[in-house]
Amino acid sequence: MTQTSHKILLLPGDGIGPEGMAEVSKLANWLSAHHYASFELETDLVGGAAIDAHGVPVTDETIAKAKAADAVMLGAVGGPKWDRVDYAIRPEAGLLKLRKELDLFANLRPALVFDALIEASTLKPEIVRGLDILIVRELTGGVYFGEPRGIEILPNGEKRGFNTQTYTTSEIRRVAEVAFDLAGKRSKKVTSCEKANVMESGKLWREVVTELHAEKYPGIALSHMYADNCAMQLLRNPQQFDVIVTDNLFGDILSDEASMLTGSLGMLPSASLGAVDATTGKRYAMYEPVHGSAPDIAGQGKANPLATILSFAMCLRYSLNRGDLADAIEQAAQNVLNSGLRTPDIMAEHCTQISTADMGDALIRALETSLFLSMRATGASS
Ligand code: IPM
Ligand code: MG
Repeated sequence: MTQTSHKILLLPGDGIGPEGMAEVSKLANWLSAHHYASFELETDLVGGAAIDAHGVPVTDETIAKAKAADAVMLGAVGGPKWDRVDYAIRPEAGLLKLRKELDLFANLRPALVFDALIEASTLKPEIVRGLDILIVRELTGGVYFGEPRGIEILPNGEKRGFNTQTYTTSEIRRVAEVAFDLAGKRSKKVTSCEKANVMESGKLWREVVTELHAEKYPGIALSHMYADNCAMQLLRNPQQFDVIVTDNLFGDILSDEASMLTGSLGMLPSASLGAVDATTGKRYAMYEPVHGSAPDIAGQGKANPLATILSFAMCLRYSLNRGDLADAIEQAAQNVLNSGLRTPDIMAEHCTQISTADMGDALIRALETSLFLSMRATGASS
């Protein structure tokens, strides 16, 4: 049987980005070689790496390649080396441009506690055991992109920095739809977070989400929460949440907080999705670990590649219609952790510390076993 070949654009970026991405390439090539799927991988530059080569953090050619691919995998951007570049072309601007140009308005950030890592959380095991939260963060609006913005000099010589928090009805509605749809496949519970008590954009956010819920999603339980209260509730009783939908800035903060419930930023994947094209059924999408470029440990084989690998699993699920392989990779990650193998960030007593590349290899070995077992169970052959 010939398989559809999936075109994936790899943008490893800076710091530990390339190390995590190398393990994804290894995994994708292994899946291709064993005919579980077929991938056409292309690699390009983003962030500081692109600034060094082209003077900008992402080129128009790279954006065009991202649009032409079935999905984009991104590593991480930034580092002290580029601290002094012009603000408009800083490494992060490349990431923000990709999000904006591809209109990736829905950012899915799951926070899942793996049993094997429960001791790594700073919270008590009974508070976080079995935790499975999905944060849906709006990604192309709000204060990240609002105009006017800038730093101006006032008549008295003082400077004034300003940004604009802005949301339109349609921007709120489309991201809330994604959250409700995903909640429908989970525990059917959505918490919408804003600061309606302080900001008009938050008041509108609450109105639009309430209206959409009444109109289309009667089967989903909706509650509203001020974002500061949500930050507190995430620590007090995280199990009360299933899907949280929120704006760009609150989502940035709450997702970092939620990630720490799980004990390691090194484990958390994310997906950034655009709208589904009505004619082709396709959507632009980019997958990236939640962690940053961690320049302090870059190039030493210390990085945990699992967040990037689990982002690739999300890519298989949301862009390539291969939920079967995504499930198998997620299971393999659990099995590797259960076997006691650990990169330094999640190292614990009685475990074995291994390198980035060894973790990638261990994952493939575990995957081989779980794919073999699931094939035998279904009686299929490759
Ligand atoms: C994230 C990061 C980015 C953001 C930075 C690197 C621009 O913190 O993806 O959460 O603020 O969105
Ligand atoms: Mg962030």
